[in-house]
Amino acid sequence: MEDSFLLEHRTTLRAMAEFGAILVYFYICDRTDLLGESTKKYNRDLFLFLYALLIIVSAMTSLTKHSDKSAFSGKTMQYLSRHQTEEWKGWMQVLFLMYHYFAAAEIYNAIRVFIAAYVWMTGFGNFSYYYIRKDFSLARFAQMMWRLNFFVAFCCIVLNNDYMLYYICPMHTLFTVMVYGALGIFNKYNEIPSVMAVKILACFLVVIFIWEIPGVFEIFWSPLAILLGYTDPAKPDLHRLHEWHFRSGLDRYVWIIGMMYAYYHPNVEKWMEKLEECETKRKFSIKASVVAIALFVRILVSTFACGIVLSSFEVTV
Ligand SMILES: *[C@@H]1O[C@H](CO)[C@@H](O)[C@H](O)[C@H]1NC(C)=O
Repeated sequence: MEDSFLLEHRTTLRAMAEFGAILVYFYICDRTDLLGESTKKYNRDLFLFLYALLIIVSAMTSLTKHSDKSAFSGKTMQYLSRHQTEEWKGWMQVLFLMYHYFAAAEIYNAIRVFIAAYVWMTGFGNFSYYYIRKDFSLARFAQMMWRLNFFVAFCCIVLNNDYMLYYICPMHTLFTVMVYGALGIFNKYNEIPSVMAVKILACFLVVIFIWEIPGVFEIFWSPLAILLGYTDPAKPDLHRLHEWHFRSGLDRYVWIIGMMYAYYHPNVEKWMEKLEECETKRKFSIKASVVAIALFVRILVSTFACGIVLSSFEVTV
């Protein structure tokens, strides 16, 4: 190989080398006895300390002010711009990793809520993208599928693991495909509100049909059972698709809510702009009431519905 060739492809080669090194490291850790085993230990103080440390370090090193222009109005977006949602996702991803690393069982409920928030953003982000950019090209779609799955594919191959052990990947892949399908089919008519209403309704019906009617799920997914099947060694009697049914079913509606929210987002943005123009006192009281209502709903949910974040802490305090 020529020097010039190597230099020209330096970044690609470097990425490949790093990727290979990571996989080798995974293999050594998980599939050989070289590094020995240990059990997971959870300590709330350590957990919070590390997370706080990360917040401080990143605030000091990478805090930047972005101003994203809304593709609808051309004005600066008030909230939920791409930068914000990516930032939000990032903080949750760190939490997911730490949760698994430490086996932090006490924050299970909070983690469930964060995963739902993530799926919400899959619906929100992808809807906004396809609705505005109208880029349904196969190339971009394939790129996205590749980005969502290439790492997990190599992990499965190298570690001889089932895809379902990394369920978050097939789950987001599925919901991304659903949003793509919902907007891509008859996309010429996306601007017509009644068509969009029918599409949203169709999304609900598809989910109800596949997930709620007993037996349909197993038949529908049987062609992909090789990929999505999993047998838990602790529960060998369960159906091969049980794990996929459970995982994909937990947040099966929230991506549609994210899509609906994305559809109305320009309106909400307009309200926010109006709000910012109000006189200070009025602005403050409206903001305070919104926060109060949100908190109230939050407390209602955690007391009655499923005992989310706070209650999971209370139990163990
Ligand atoms: C679509 O959803 C996937 C999965 O969450 C995400 O990785 C991707 O960034 C989203 N695309 C957009 C444009 O938000």
